Amino acid sequence: MSSKRVLTGIQPSGILHLGNYFGTIRQAMQMQEEYQCFYFIADYHAMTSLPEPELLRQRSFNVALDLLSCGLNPEKTVFFRQSDVPEVQVLTWVLSCICPLGLLERCHSYKDKVAHGMEANHGLLAYPVLMAADILLYDSHLVPVGKDQKQHLEVTRDLAMRFNNRYGEGLLTMPEAKIIEEVAVVPGLDGQKMSKSYNNTIEIFSEGKAARRKFMSIVTDSTPLEDPKDPDSCNVFALYKLFASAEEQENMRQRYRAGGLGYGHAKQELFDKYIEHFREMREKRNKLLEKPGLIEDMLQAGAQRARKVASQTMQRVMNAVGL
Ligand code: ADP
Ligand code: TRP
Repeated sequence: MSSKRVLTGIQPSGILHLGNYFGTIRQAMQMQEEYQCFYFIADYHAMTSLPEPELLRQRSFNVALDLLSCGLNPEKTVFFRQSDVPEVQVLTWVLSCICPLGLLERCHSYKDKVAHGMEANHGLLAYPVLMAADILLYDSHLVPVGKDQKQHLEVTRDLAMRFNNRYGEGLLTMPEAKIIEEVAVVPGLDGQKMSKSYNNTIEIFSEGKAARRKFMSIVTDSTPLEDPKDPDSCNVFALYKLFASAEEQENMRQRYRAGGLGYGHAKQELFDKYIEHFREMREKRNKLLEKPGLIEDMLQAGAQRARKVASQTMQRVMNAVGL
């Protein structure tokens, strides 16, 4: 077990899908065996794009439910909601006072969001300062993020350096990004990258007829049933690979090439694999759903643990800045 602290934040901005699962969640679950992990639901960040209170509440709950079902262990990992730790806003202000505007104006994510029609408000501009506070508050060493968040990590490091230069070396712990190379970009129903923005997702926890219908709607070419097919250009096969053993993949590959395997059949096999893969997690989820109050209790207990670390950092910070 490494003594390094790993921190991950996830925005509750949509229903978690297979891209999220194979892209980040699975790796995060493995990390809890190796490191001391902090994992939080970034609900303040989600406010920048989700101004609907009931939806925000519901999605925060659902992310917690899904992560716990996927194996997040709240005994090992400090699991909490960002907004349950008020210290993070105090640190955001302190960091705001040393953050040059130019640093924020240069952020691609801010520019992209505004270019796509989002209102250029202060929350959107200050998003990376809040993210820096998330990271620095808990003395995080490693922050696993996708490539899209790399620049935000650079802002965090820049602010930590400015703070330590001005107020005293070693006050804030310098974090490192651990860039998650998307091992395989998980394709969506239409073959583009699976993403909630493209409306082509398969949720981690769907089941029954509606779920089957989704799998049946995966786009394929129109090669007739009896003809040989190319597994490597097929969405169904790309998704199948995520669930199947090497042997099963090879077997399916040969059946594609031999001809006589219809896409409908391949989709059914994929669907069966999907249901099987998440079976235990689904059972766990159904159990958790019977006692939703338990999830809130776990989050509150996590926030207590997080606040212990946060209050130590804030004592150092407040003292150093003269408050
Ligand atoms: P979306 O594209 O649906 O908005 P997010 O950007 O919220 O998804 O994704 C959160 C994390 O999940 C990302 O940092 C990324 O690493 C991972 N992820 C999302 N979609 C995929 C995908 N199709 N393939 C692999 N990883 C993905
Ligand atoms: N901005 C991150 C995202 O959209 C979520 C996030 C907020 C985060 N605070 C963080 C990630 C701190 C890592 C560390 O994916």
